Amino acid sequence: MTQEPRAREVLREAARHALLAPSEHNAQPWRFRLHGAVLDLRADRTRRLPATDEAAHNLLLGCGCALHHLRVALAAAGREADVRRGNDEDPEHPLARVRLGGPTTPDPRTRRWFGAMPGRRTDRRRFSGQEVGPEVVEALAEAARSCGGTLFLATGSVRRAIVEAAAEADRAMRARLDYAAEMQHWTRRYAGAHDGIPASSRPDTPAVAYGDVEMRWMPPGTLDRPRAGPGARDASQILLLAAPSADTVSLVRAGEALSAVLLEAEALGLAVTPFTAPFEEPAVEARIRHLGIGAHRIPVIALRVGRRLPGAATIPPTPRRPLHAVLTEDP
Ligand SMILES: Cc1cc2nc3c(=O)[nH]c(=O)nc-3n(C[C@H](O)[C@H](O)[C@H](O)COP(=O)(O)O)c2cc1C
Repeated sequence: MTQEPRAREVLREAARHALLAPSEHNAQPWRFRLHGAVLDLRADRTRRLPATDEAAHNLLLGCGCALHHLRVALAAAGREADVRRGNDEDPEHPLARVRLGGPTTPDPRTRRWFGAMPGRRTDRRRFSGQEVGPEVVEALAEAARSCGGTLFLATGSVRRAIVEAAAEADRAMRARLDYAAEMQHWTRRYAGAHDGIPASSRPDTPAVAYGDVEMRWMPPGTLDRPRAGPGARDASQILLLAAPSADTVSLVRAGEALSAVLLEAEALGLAVTPFTAPFEEPAVEARIRHLGIGAHRIPVIALRVGRRLPGAATIPPTPRRPLHAVLTEDP
């Protein structure tokens, strides 16, 4: 019992790092509760994106990213953690219940991922013509596997199907008023808002396509797209992350794997745009559900991965809500 105040401080600090996790539209759909020496993570469903993420799959992926950031921060602080995942249907079964374990020495990968957290960004700009090689794809796939995820490179007809699905879903969703309103809401936040996608993270032209890959439409921002010269090729690779099913625990675990992949990519100096439009429009999603991986896994998010063009500026961080806005503490 005498160690409890210290345990609470370690958990509080780890929760602070969890806030750096990515989430769709930067909605940050998570909340934490510290009780005794236990930290619970629950989804904040008031922050769901009803017109974009009707099934709340991306909300759970975002919560999984926050959980992975939390676990990495605890390991980097030299503490083991006992994590019990739940379906979040009642307060006794949150998405994750985290208890501190004994001391541990952080391994090199933990240190690398922890170091990558503050600088990781979603990059929606053109990438260079230099493709990432098979050894890099394997390093990212290994990061996903370390969290039980399956990551694979989309090539040939699988790539064609994904990029066509992204373009078709984006067109279909943009035609709906509620989707357009939701996009405006999260990209034109009031001054001082601590969420949403700021202009400094959005390319300075509205419709952006790089080769065969059409990006999700967003209102133009102020992010300067580095000049690539006439005829320059963007050699982005498309990777797909798959989960065993779309139940709550599987999606949170897939979110943990997503976080591992994004942190590994940042540590390797890669640029990444996660994109989920293909999975948000039910008629489109049904067509790509078993793409390239058979019947036992479903792709849940696509990643455009490449190398930054020389001279590409550092993207400013997107805002985050402060810890006190998402953490409640029982005495
Ligand atoms: C589950 C999930 C889905 C996302 N989908 C998209 C997407 O379709 N298009 C996009 O440009 N960014 C997408 N993002 C990136 C978020 O917009 C981004 O993480 C958020 O704005 C915070 O910015 P940051 O990643 O630079 O910290 C997604 C992120 C997550 C976690």
